[in-house]
Amino acid sequence: MRRAYGKLAEVLSGFASIHYSIKANPNPGVIGVLIGQGAGVEIASLGEYRLARSAGADPSRILFAGPGKRAEELAVVLREGIGEIHLESLEEIARIERLIEAGGVPAPVAIRFNPVAEVQGGAMRMGGRPAPFGFDEEELDGVVDQVEASAAFDLRGVHMFAGTQILDADMLAGQWAHGLAVARRVAARIGRPLKTIDLGGGLGIPYYIGEAALDLERLATHIPALAEALAADPLTRDAQVVVEPGRFLVGPAGVYVACVLAAKTSRGSRFLVTDGGMHHHLAASGNLGQIIKRDYPVLAPARMGEPATVTASLAGPLCTPLDMIARKAELPDLREGDLVAVLQSGAYGLSASPVNFLGHPLPREVLVDGGAARLISC
Ligand SMILES: Cc1ncc(COP(=O)(O)O)c(C=O)c1O
Repeated sequence: MRRAYGKLAEVLSGFASIHYSIKANPNPGVIGVLIGQGAGVEIASLGEYRLARSAGADPSRILFAGPGKRAEELAVVLREGIGEIHLESLEEIARIERLIEAGGVPAPVAIRFNPVAEVQGGAMRMGGRPAPFGFDEEELDGVVDQVEASAAFDLRGVHMFAGTQILDADMLAGQWAHGLAVARRVAARIGRPLKTIDLGGGLGIPYYIGEAALDLERLATHIPALAEALAADPLTRDAQVVVEPGRFLVGPAGVYVACVLAAKTSRGSRFLVTDGGMHHHLAASGNLGQIIKRDYPVLAPARMGEPATVTASLAGPLCTPLDMIARKAELPDLREGDLVAVLQSGAYGLSASPVNFLGHPLPREVLVDGGAARLISC
């Protein structure tokens, strides 16, 4: 996690700062590592606000996005402190206006825009098409005018987020360039400088054979032009640019380990049934929005020296064929009691999984730092 943060911070140096999108892995032990590196955080609920605070996040460095924020959640963060709330609907605008009493301190806000289609991308698109996230970019003028005219808001900036799991550096840089262009439009509309420009997350990691990692060196070649575009406009020159990745910062650091309960052959196909599955790791089972079900890399961590002699599918303990962590993986000949490990598992694992389905126990979460292991289960 520190290495991923450090590499990205180096690429973004002088251009943008990093907020960790804690939905990727909201364990306070994990959040704490990234805060320790200097990250702010991006949250999407009061529950995440509490987790971020318990991990030591400074409220002024917390951004609150998400398409459905309840009045109670908004009231608490406004009372206890928040860096910015990202406005995503007219109802949300009205909801906050009701919370800010006449003459009260205006809410620090940015407006989230769903970008136009040309800049869409990523394995799971969050924008560039009809979506419940933010306001359509086409509505920019009217929304900006409405927020700007209200005494309830301190309009600080803009937020864009086009899609997740982007492995193409040029596409990402193109989206960022578009985000800056939208920021310039907003700044011109209000006629004063923006304080923040949030370009979103979405930086991908390789999961499957044949996928290449996001080329950070190539991404770095785009930064001077982006920084120049920012500086060229006096209304964006001094804005704090933010990127808010989740997956990229924590995904590669995580290993999900399960134990084989049964090794069986059904009509010629080998199955290893484990005590872990999609109730702990929905994403690895291919049931978290992937278009094609493909397998995360798996291995036998306690038998690394042995050749892969068997082709076996890894099934979880749930009574559904969806509970399949890997199909036809090449592994040593594993038996009851052997361990299997799923790599690239630090993001969208436990907290993104149906943990109560069938009532199996939760996995233990362990932070391994410099060789020392610490139980960090909540
Ligand atoms: C508003 C927002 N920011 C950041 C992220 C993090 O995305 P990723 O893990 O792809 O970086 C998400 C993910 O859904 C999001 O909705």
